[in-house]
Amino acid sequence: MKIAPSLLSADFGKLKEEIEMMNASACDRIHVDVMDGRFVPNISFGFPVLQVLKKYATKPLDVHLMIVEPEKYVEAFVKGGASYLSFHLEATNHAHRLLNQVRNFGAKSGIAINPQTGLDWFPSLAGEFDFVNVMTVNPGFGGQSFIWTMEPKLKTLNDLRSKHSFETEVDGGVTYEVLQKLGSVLPDVAVAGSSVFSASNPTEEISRLSAF
Ligand code: DX5
Ligand code: ZN
Repeated sequence: MKIAPSLLSADFGKLKEEIEMMNASACDRIHVDVMDGRFVPNISFGFPVLQVLKKYATKPLDVHLMIVEPEKYVEAFVKGGASYLSFHLEATNHAHRLLNQVRNFGAKSGIAINPQTGLDWFPSLAGEFDFVNVMTVNPGFGGQSFIWTMEPKLKTLNDLRSKHSFETEVDGGVTYEVLQKLGSVLPDVAVAGSSVFSASNPTEEISRLSAF
């Protein structure tokens, strides 16, 4: 399985080393959580940090926008280095247009959905996105516990991959034990923040997670 360590849990006092650790690890992407203090009750980081990532990261950047009015910023984030870009369905009335714009700017387009959001939107947007980011915590903070009632939603999405081409991504509370318990309901990509960066050996933890 593909692993995307979430930079949010990295030590910003040694950002360059943390990026180099991920470059040398078995991870597939670097997950970049952008929070605006409005869509979620926390503010993380923005373009200056993305610039550092773009300069030093050798793995594709998976930018997760937890911001209101994502339409204002997708171009800047793709041009700023995002290879994968997800925005929240709950943050826009124009998801179809925005997904197209993300692709036209040159990134893989992703829909992120909060735990309370169902899959009613799927038929009308099918084919327009490259991945779905299933939030398995309430977005805003690292280090929360995986919400197990999200498992049927993940299973439904995984099943839909036989008819439509897209990846499933799970974001929030992912640990080795959670992946073990998910068993056959594993996503294509797992985001892991605190479980990686609080491990005594983050590189080994990334290898352990990616072996699923
Ligand atoms: C939560 C973020 C997640 C978070 C994951 O709002 O979208 O990407 O950093 O961190 P952990 O793995 O610690 O839940
Ligand atoms: Zn995220």
